[in-house]
This record gives sequence, structure tokens and C-alpha cells, in this order.
Amino acid sequence: MYALEIANVSKNYGDFQALDQIDFVVEEGSFVGLLGVNGAGKTTLISSIAGINKFRGKIKVMGYDVIRDVVKAKRCLGVVPQELAYDPFLTVYQTLKFQSGLYGVKNNQSWLDEVINRLYLRDKVNSTTRNLSGGMKRRLMVAQALVHKPPVIILDEPTAGVDVELRKSLWEFIVELNKDGHTILLTTHYLEEVEKLCNKIIMIHKGKIIAQSSKADLINQAGNLPTMVEIETINGEITDELSNWLVFREGNLFTFKLDSSDQLLSILSLLKLANIKIENISIKHPSLEDIFINYVHG
Ligand SMILES: Nc1ncnc2c1ncn2[C@@H]1O[C@H](COP(=O)(O)OP(=O)(O)O)[C@@H](O)[C@H]1O
Ligand SMILES: [Mg+2]
Repeated sequence: MYALEIANVSKNYGDFQALDQIDFVVEEGSFVGLLGVNGAGKTTLISSIAGINKFRGKIKVMGYDVIRDVVKAKRCLGVVPQELAYDPFLTVYQTLKFQSGLYGVKNNQSWLDEVINRLYLRDKVNSTTRNLSGGMKRRLMVAQALVHKPPVIILDEPTAGVDVELRKSLWEFIVELNKDGHTILLTTHYLEEVEKLCNKIIMIHKGKIIAQSSKADLINQAGNLPTMVEIETINGEITDELSNWLVFREGNLFTFKLDSSDQLLSILSLLKLANIKIENISIKHPSLEDIFINYVHG
């Protein structure tokens, strides 16, 4: 069984097609990164999974169809929405109890305590939500999504505009939940987060999937992207034979673009032949971000 099955999902807002035949599955227990620039369709897809959006196609959460088995599907799913949404007059604790009631969960006190502690909300349990700072509100949104201990957790840019401290503590908790078997789908534009946390990456652009593969495969593909090398020569000496690779010069510092890393050897031997001494050299291997940009613009 899959944690998530997204089959041929399309969505229009009037004439505008926000999702175009999105198709993927998420294995139970995996940690998936959904990457896309602003407007790619990430939130639209998540709203469809959460049953907030009408869509064409089929979506299942833990085997339950989100339309036909809506109650069971919802019990299996916790969504942290991109926009803050809360009742400003309830306290943190009341919010979590109320949310538990919505799911018909009663005996979850020890789990609530754990969530409250792990998200550092303990000091604020009796504060009304409107008096919380932005970061605290964000933590509450995460807590709210977890009250029923859902097997599938979706986070829509949970760390956008959030301080480093919260990001770190949030990820520690989410990683632990993943280790305990919860499936995680995360959208973020912090590529380092995806690089560090996720084992599968799905890239969407203009409502379409442009790449989906394991993180290891994506990083392997990076080997086919250009490597940039910066070489600083003594006195800014250079030889014309390197002009094919040269993309930029600033003083004594030359930036070369190599189609493969073995071209570096050619450059170094040409410099040696011309008797040019190297002061400094640095190599910039392609990152996940370069791969993403290559897919979007390439
Ligand atoms: N309620 C809506 N009505 C009309 N267009 C919308 C609506 N919600 C989103 N869109 C459009 O759909 C596209 C995808 O938006 P969204 O799913 O929010 O992208 P993302 O979360 O990847 O930034 C954008 O072009 C956005 O302007
Ligand atoms: Mg969004």
C-alpha cells in the first residue's frame, strides 16, 4: 500500500490550468520533497489532497479515496497549511483540544503533551493565539496538524520566514516522526532542507511534474551539469588556449565553465605548459538548486 497515490490530477481555476495531470505515488515511511517556484501549483495540489479543492483525477491517502472515503482519508492525514489559520480567541491548549474534537479523538493527552513539549509551546499553552508571535503561531499550526497522530503528514512551506532556531527544532521533531514510520511530504524553497531531509524529490513547474526521482539519482544527474572552476593566477597571467572555457574574469581571478570534471586536467596542463603559476583554485560542483534551475529553464 502507498501512503499517497496521486493519479492524473488536474485542476483549473476558470480558464487557468493550475495542475496538469499530476501523477505520483509516495511509499509508506518516505520523506518526500515537493519543489517548485512560487505559483508552480504546490499549494493547489496539497489543498486537493486535503479535500479543500475540487479536482479531476484520483487521490488516495493510505488507500482511502479522499472523495469517497473522506472521513477515513482525513483521519490519516495532517496538513500544515501555508497560510496561518487559527481562532484568535482560543488559547493554545483550547485550540489543540478543539482540533482533537474535530477528529473525534479523546484519549490523546499524552500525545498532546509530547507535541506541546517538542514544539516548545509549553510556556504558551494558556496564551490566546492572537497574542503569539509569528513563529509561535507557526508552531501551533504544526501542533494542530498532529493532534490525531496522522500516519501521513504534509507541510506546506512550514519554515518560510521562520527563524533558524525554530526550523532546527521543527526538523528534529519531523525527522523523528519519520523514523517512527510517519510519511512526510514537504514543500519548501529552502533547497538545503530538501537536500538534507528528503529521500525522494518531486519537482513541479507550471502545474506539471518536471522531475521525480530519488535524491541519490538527482545528485548523480548533477554530474552531467557544468562544473564551475575559479582559478587565480599570479599576476593575472592567462593563455589564449583557455578562452573556450573562460566565462568571466575579475582581476587575477578567472572563472571557467567545464562540461565535465576531466576538463579540469586539460586546463591545468595548459597552464603548466604556458608556465603560468596558480595562486588559488576552487571548484563549484552543481547543487540541487542548479539541477532544479536546469529543469525549469533547460
Ligand atoms: N483560488 C485561486 N483562484 C485562481 N487562481 C489561483 C487560486 N489559487 C492559486 N491560483 C493560481 O494557481 C497557480 C498555482 O498556485 P499555488 O498552488 O498557490 O502555487 P505554489 O503553492 O506552488 O506557490 C498560481 O498561478 C496561482 O496564482
Ligand atoms: Mg504555496
